[in-house]
Amino acid sequence: MSILVTGGAGYIGSHTCIELLSAGYEIVVLDNLSNSKPEVLKRISELTKKDFKFYQADLLDKTTLEKVFSENNIEAVIHFAGLKAVGESIEIPLHYYHNNITGTLVLCQTMKKYDVKKMIFSSSANVYGVPKLVPITETSPLSAINPYGRTKLVIEKILGDLYDSDNSWSIALLRYFNPIGAHESGRIGEDPNDIPNNLMPYINQVAIGKRDKLNVFGNDYDTHDGTGVRDYIHVVDLAKGHLKALEMIIPITGIDVFNLGTGTGYSVLDLIKSYENVTSKKIPYTFTHRRPGDVDKSYADITKANKILGWKALKSLEDMCYDSWRWQKNNPNGYGK
Ligand code: NAD
Ligand code: UFG
Repeated sequence: MSILVTGGAGYIGSHTCIELLSAGYEIVVLDNLSNSKPEVLKRISELTKKDFKFYQADLLDKTTLEKVFSENNIEAVIHFAGLKAVGESIEIPLHYYHNNITGTLVLCQTMKKYDVKKMIFSSSANVYGVPKLVPITETSPLSAINPYGRTKLVIEKILGDLYDSDNSWSIALLRYFNPIGAHESGRIGEDPNDIPNNLMPYINQVAIGKRDKLNVFGNDYDTHDGTGVRDYIHVVDLAKGHLKALEMIIPITGIDVFNLGTGTGYSVLDLIKSYENVTSKKIPYTFTHRRPGDVDKSYADITKANKILGWKALKSLEDMCYDSWRWQKNNPNGYGK
């Protein structure tokens, strides 16, 4: 029996593949490489000393998807594949809706046809929109405020309707907070195309000398130092959360949702300070205007994942900063062309 990992060549997917293989699972990876490189697949094998099947295919390609299910004995699917840039989703919403939502529909139809009814879905803290209260619990109001977040919210609803129509499905919706960091080997990490949108990859590029300085988006937020507060979580802790969710969904049926974060919020300035301390690299920055759509504070209440999945993030902010830097330092050009 194998676990199908869609988007397994991506940032979170690749770290999860390592944890799955290391724990003895057989995996099949499907990715269209629209936001990832084939080199990562080699490195997953190199680090785990395990082989796995890879299909370079698009979720929207029903014929190939059917081939994946007919050629392999799939037990469950971890569904990472999707487009994730908030700003881009505002510019090209139809592409985001089609890729993320239609892609998930085609996947679910195929799973149903092959009687594979166990799925973990990558949702996002983005579905909470502008949170009224922190820490955010799974029952906090949902109100996505951009097309990307809406794709996640719609997919969560679709999966809920699917379960209501057929109670033999078993689905975990995982709402990630802010994944950063990299594998401790320094061989696997986040490799953004173009100018990074997110804070940690941008800081990494300043540290390596690719960019002069960081623009800190706003210093007048309602936070301890005026800069935005987020729940940064080490990507390896996050990957391990998927194994806990898998152990939970395989023997049962049902649908449930979990926040995956650390439960602690750090500001942009906290992150810069910690990065500078552990790497001895200076990160020059200037304050600029707020980025539209950003919220003051977002951090998770992690009680539910703790109690039900028996999972807790273990790595510190220092670990996250150091591991991010080691990846950047060892791979100044990411996975290369
Ligand atoms: P990523 O872009 O690194 O990985 C996603 C992978 O999916 C890429 O390798 C891409 O090539 C692939 N893909 C996209 N569309 C596809 C399609 N139609 N068919 C096949 N493959 C396709 O992103 P990530 O950071 O690893 O995120 C993984 C998932 O987690 C995404 O669904 C994302 O929305 C979600 N998420 C990410 C974050 C974050 O900050 N990184 C936060 C919350 C949720
Ligand atoms: N920030 C800067 N300068 C930058 C980039 C970011 O000051 O160059 C600030 C932002 O204003 C924010 C914080 O750093 O206060 C974190 O920003 P990120 O872009 O790294 O992360 P977001 O919280 O905005 O969003 C990310 C993903 C979303 C996801 C969300 C929750 O981009 O897709 O985390 O998981 F939904």
